[in-house]
Amino acid sequence: MDKDSRGSFKGSIGFVLAAAGSAVGLGNIWRFPYLAARDGGGLFLVVYIVFALTFGFTMLTTEVAIGRKTKQSPLTAYRVMHKGWGWIGLFACVVPMMIMPYYGVIGGWVVKYFVAFLTGHGADAASDGYFTSFITHEWEPLIYLFVFVLICAFVILRGVSNGIEKWSKVLMPILFLMVIGIAVYSVLLKRTTETGAVVTGLQGLKVYLIPNFKGVGLKQFFYILTDALSQLFYSLSIAMGIMIAYGSYVPDDSNLVRSINQIEFFDTAVAFLAGIMIIPAVYVFMGPEGMSMGPSLMFVSLPKIFAAMGPVGNIVGVIFFAMVFFAALTSGISILEAIVSSFMDKFRMKRSSATILETVIALAIGTVVCLGYNVFYFEMKLPNGSTGQVLDILDYISNYLMMPVVAIATCILVGWVLTPDSVVGEVTKNGESFARKKLYYVMVRFAAPLLIAVLLLMALGVL
Ligand code: PHE
Repeated sequence: MDKDSRGSFKGSIGFVLAAAGSAVGLGNIWRFPYLAARDGGGLFLVVYIVFALTFGFTMLTTEVAIGRKTKQSPLTAYRVMHKGWGWIGLFACVVPMMIMPYYGVIGGWVVKYFVAFLTGHGADAASDGYFTSFITHEWEPLIYLFVFVLICAFVILRGVSNGIEKWSKVLMPILFLMVIGIAVYSVLLKRTTETGAVVTGLQGLKVYLIPNFKGVGLKQFFYILTDALSQLFYSLSIAMGIMIAYGSYVPDDSNLVRSINQIEFFDTAVAFLAGIMIIPAVYVFMGPEGMSMGPSLMFVSLPKIFAAMGPVGNIVGVIFFAMVFFAALTSGISILEAIVSSFMDKFRMKRSSATILETVIALAIGTVVCLGYNVFYFEMKLPNGSTGQVLDILDYISNYLMMPVVAIATCILVGWVLTPDSVVGEVTKNGESFARKKLYYVMVRFAAPLLIAVLLLMALGVL
């Protein structure tokens, strides 16, 4: 396929917003705040930022550079880098194929909540059992899954600059404004409890920002480190082919060093702001105990908080779920593109046929994921100690097992089989200065693969 028909981003802002759109997703909005609240507030933030500037930057640089250097999709890029290492590409393409169906299911849940608040049914969403009765419903989640995946497919069909770039340029700035607006609102919240005490958002903000060393021994610190690392790994959309696919559409003359810094900044800023948006609100309406509520935060606790805000809560709910919807959409689009670009490059398919094929696959597997909560319900114990349904199993295999393998293999390929210069040369080919070059060498050869190996061993239940 010739270069032009692969498509490309028109400008570096478009690339940055598309990549940031992929990176900013449910992980930033839902997982980051609850980890921060659990793991010592400011302490977690510092650890996370240090990892972002070292580990995150290394992985992001590596993948974007591989994409731009080879001008290939994840499935075919690794083979171009080195003949014997093409297998990583297969992994890097299977991972998004496993993620797309269940990401679509969760995206569908977000659409459902958005619609509920938009049609004034926010109070219902706050009632006990609403979430469980929705996801166990036999056909309703299927409809929302289809809506979400078909919107992603529509954008992908329109191509790189007319689809992905255009949509990211509209959705991401709106998302950013919404996050800031809700964050300000949340910090300004005030409530008088039954005992007459006044709790404020500002107090909650302090819990989030001030490092809390209480009860943090060596063991807990190790857990904080691994929480931050795995969060970062997921948050930057690395090791799932996406950044390679997007990198392959970046024009040769654009400054990759600068773009990568901006993507990192955007992703971390939204995660940080999401904490300001969620933690003070949870603190005001649920108290410090509300902080440890974990995964049910988004679909169970937040609707209750919106309901407790009174009539204005429905409006906050609409804005909140619209924002989460945009975040999930730009991520879903990027997952789909990693697969579609792979089909196009490998099998010389047209964009339209590749999109239709993957959409059908994602909807078929996604249907099984939905039915995993009713018709096919079972409980399986996973090696990392959790219990799960179809969704959790797909998540476990892709995120906890295959992605670390892709990431470690990528570091070994670039750091040892080739040389780090294969990446450094690509990012500095227009004479750009690369301030963290020495850091990059050390990270890609030693620190990054070792850190990911720790995550892999934890996932296997060894550590
Ligand atoms: N990076 C996204 C987030 O932080 C999640 C994501 C997962 C995006 C898989 C794309 C693919 O939520």
